[in-house]
This record gives sequence, C-alpha cells and structure tokens, in this order.
Amino acid sequence: MSSSEENSRTKHESVTTPHWKAPLEPVPLLAHYRRMPTTSTDLMEEIRALKKARNAVILAHNYQIAAIQEVADFVGDSLGLSRQAAATGADVIAFCGVHFMGETAKILNPLKTVVIPDLEAGCSLSDSCPAPKLEAFLHEHHGKNYYVIAYINCSAGVKALADVIVTSGNAARIVEAAPADRNILFVPDQNLGAWVTEQTGRKMDLWQGHCYVHVEFTRESIHRIKAGHPEAVVVAHPECTLAVRLLADEVCSTEKMVTFCKDHAAQTFIIVTESGMLHRLEREIPGKTFIPGPTDHCACADCRYMKMNTLEKLRDCLANLEPRIEIPEDVRRPAERSVRRMLELSA
Ligand code: 13P
Ligand code: SF4
Repeated sequence: MSSSEENSRTKHESVTTPHWKAPLEPVPLLAHYRRMPTTSTDLMEEIRALKKARNAVILAHNYQIAAIQEVADFVGDSLGLSRQAAATGADVIAFCGVHFMGETAKILNPLKTVVIPDLEAGCSLSDSCPAPKLEAFLHEHHGKNYYVIAYINCSAGVKALADVIVTSGNAARIVEAAPADRNILFVPDQNLGAWVTEQTGRKMDLWQGHCYVHVEFTRESIHRIKAGHPEAVVVAHPECTLAVRLLADEVCSTEKMVTFCKDHAAQTFIIVTESGMLHRLEREIPGKTFIPGPTDHCACADCRYMKMNTLEKLRDCLANLEPRIEIPEDVRRPAERSVRRMLELSA
C-alpha cells in the first residue's frame, strides 16, 4: 500500500483501539464468572448483573441469535437502533450487531463507551464501498456535483463523505427530500437503491455493492417455497434482487416486517431475509406461522457476521469493556452530521 493510500485510510476508516485505557474499571468478578457453569440462563444472569454494574444498555439487531435478543434491552432494525443509541442515558452501549452498527452508536455518542462482542463481525455490503475508493470516485466525477446518499450499512469513513444516511426503513422518504437539482449517488447497495428508485421515481447513480446473504435468494428458490405454501404471504428485504422482490407481496425493513405480519389477516408468511428475524416474529406474533425463505443452497439464510456474536462474547465485552469502537474526531464529526440529518428527516 502506498503512503498516500495509507494516509487516506487512516483519515477515513474508523479505528478500534483494543488497548485504550478504560475510564471504567473492569468488574473484578470476571475470573469468578469464568468458573461458573455456562448454560444460557447462567450467562444471561451474568450479563444482567454486568449490565447493572456498568450502567450499560444492550442494543441488538433483529438478526442476532435468539438468546441475545432475549437478554437485550432493545431489539430492532438499523433505524430503531440508531434512535435508541441517540437517546440512551447509559454510560456503556453494548452493541450486538455488526461493526458499522457499533460505529453508528459511537458516532452519536463520542463520550460514551461503545463495545461490541466481536470486532471481526463486519458486513460484506459495507466492505464493498471502502471510503478511499468512494473519495477517489467523487474526485474523478466532481463535475457531477453528487449529493451522496449512503445506506447505513457502511463505514464511518463513508458516512463522513455522505450528505445524508438512510436505512431501509426511511430511504424513500429521505431520497424524496434530496435537492431536486442535484445528481444523486447512492452507496453502497445497488438493490436497495433500485428499490428506492422504483418507489420514488428519482433516478440515482448506484454503487455496485450488495449483501452476500440477500443475493443468495433466487427467483427459483422463492418460487419453490411458494409452490409448497400457496396460502403464504411473501415478505422480502429490499437488499434482495429485483427478481426476488417481484415475487414478494411486501418489501420492507426488518422492523416493518413485524408490523406488516401483525396487521395482515394471513396466518402464514414466508420471510425472505436473514434467519434471526424469525425469532423476533415468532416472539411478538405467537399465533402465526413464519417460514424462512430458502436459498438455492440452504433452508434459511444466516449472516456469518451477525452470527459471530454469542452470549459468552457479550458477557466478556461487558466485563472487559473491550473490544471498543473508537473513531477519530475528523471522521466522526462529519459522519455525525449525515447521521443526524437522517434522524431529523425521519423524526
Ligand atoms: P434493517 O435496517 O432492515 O434491519 O437491515 C439491516 C441489514 O443489515 C440488512 O441486511
Ligand atoms: Fe451486512 Fe448482509 Fe450481514 Fe446485513 S445481512 S450485516 S447487509 S452482510
């Protein structure tokens, strides 16, 4: 890597510093905890005790394993989680999701400690748009005077380069509010971007990124499951390809899936998104049946990053206050501007 590439990476990619000196002392009971039996119930008790000792809040995405969803204070989609992160009075945020979600919490809370269970829990979609590459693209196409709209599944460095952030829950509304006289560059998800254009009629240039999980659903795999359950209503996430979205009765964010299935008269739903969503739906709508959308290779789709988080790692990150998210201020400040603009536009 050239030194200019290195500099630009340092400037735009967030930095995690595992050896950062903790403002709060680690709870000295960790050794004792490690000797205890590690059933889920015991671990949950340890986590609740640590949470109290730390004055921490546990935020979990809808794709987390069932046990993490059960122990969390709030389970939701990226928009709901951002709102919770913006409003919390806790000293510590333990974010159970993927790296960019922990970063978003830190962007909004520079003075709080933000920990995540596993630093390696990334996101293929976020990785498809590195900040230095976006910066170079914007430089190369400066004549386009792009208004950059970034899906929240991106790094803090990309958020810092964006004018506004969107989630799948508010994207159409925010794109409609974009200046009419500007060209829009939508990053990094081409499928979500195309879905927003279908809804709003607003033309956008799309970064060619995708989520490796959602593009695994195919027209054939969804046709097959529909044929086996002709009465079922199909609900898909907008990160799916057009061929799959066309087979869905509803395309929406993970949070909207809960209200949609609750309010709908149907009893059976095929859920075309990551498998963790099934737990949230079954828990909140016990009388109905949810069938995971299959891919061509498996009966339901797991995000390998989301599934890196375990109760043990959550317990350890609360006990050790590591790994932590840290973001240099020259990246965090502009990133906060674009995240706050999103929160204002979707209030
Ligand atoms: P939601 O914001 O709809 O929960 O989606 C987040 C995500 O990562 C989808 O893959
Ligand atoms: Fe990223 Fe896809 Fe996993 Fe969501 S499901 S976190 S978009 S890799």
